[in-house]
Amino acid sequence: MKYSFSGRVALVTGAGSGIGEAIARLLASNGLSVVVSDVSADNAQRVAKLISADGGQAVANVADVARINDVEAAVACAVDMFGGLHFAVNNAGISGDQSPVGELDPAAWSRVIDINLNGVFYGLRHQIPAILRSGGGAIVNVSSILGVVGDAGNPAYVAAKHAVTGLTRSAALAYAAKGVRINSIHPGYVRTPILDFLDESALQEAVGLHPIGRLGTPDEIAHAVAFLLSEGSSFFAGTQLIADGGYTAR
Ligand SMILES: NC(=O)c1ccc[n+]([C@@H]2O[C@H](COP(=O)([O-])OP(=O)(O)OC[C@H]3O[C@@H](n4cnc5c(N)ncnc54)[C@H](O)[C@@H]3O)[C@@H](O)[C@H]2O)c1
Repeated sequence: MKYSFSGRVALVTGAGSGIGEAIARLLASNGLSVVVSDVSADNAQRVAKLISADGGQAVANVADVARINDVEAAVACAVDMFGGLHFAVNNAGISGDQSPVGELDPAAWSRVIDINLNGVFYGLRHQIPAILRSGGGAIVNVSSILGVVGDAGNPAYVAAKHAVTGLTRSAALAYAAKGVRINSIHPGYVRTPILDFLDESALQEAVGLHPIGRLGTPDEIAHAVAFLLSEGSSFFAGTQLIADGGYTAR
């Protein structure tokens, strides 16, 4: 599938692995210049090199999304290297502790909120002005099915991902008429390192929760994100696009 992104610039957080890597590579293969941002320098550089080897334009950027100065610098990197910013994908995230809320360590709560929620706010805070200065564009925030339904064992993650849904709606309302469309994507389980805490039997149990009979792939989520950034979704603003093999349809 091809999208007409040529000559424009995207920033993807958490682009050194899994879903973010697939998004960065798909956008670059469709003509976007991509800032491959990740807290892991090795992985950001690995993905940027893969994009260059495939003939695309990319620069690696090291940023911890829980640090607002890093996030501001990632946006500045897009402007300095490629002349502006049109698209952003706030994808970086961690799974956090699998304890029910009555047993959750408050420090573990804060860590998940810092990355999975504050990181998205810091992104929007700096990406939106840059996109406005570049003449408009779009942002996708990566939430989850756990931003739509609950999960007994993952309270901080569920709370952060639900909050990303609300933050996305608020941002979309403020900027839809100004030329920045902001939407969220809600993947079901996708086999990436974020699921490493699950053993094989837990993974099989997870498969059973997806009526389609399997987990998703990073590429399937990347295509949904590319759609939300593209002109194909020009009437989407503040939407929750659920890509979950039927998980939430029950
Ligand atoms: N894989 C799934 O089943 C699934 C389902 C729903 C939503 N998601 C969401 O998709 C996003 C991507 O997850 P993934 O499955 O690709 O996981 P992943 O672990 O493969 O990738 C996450 C990336 O984020 C980076 N990262 C972690 N903390 C960071 C920080 N503080 N600052 C910058 N980068 C940081 C990691 O280095 C890694 O490269 C996450 O927001 C996750 O919550 C994943």
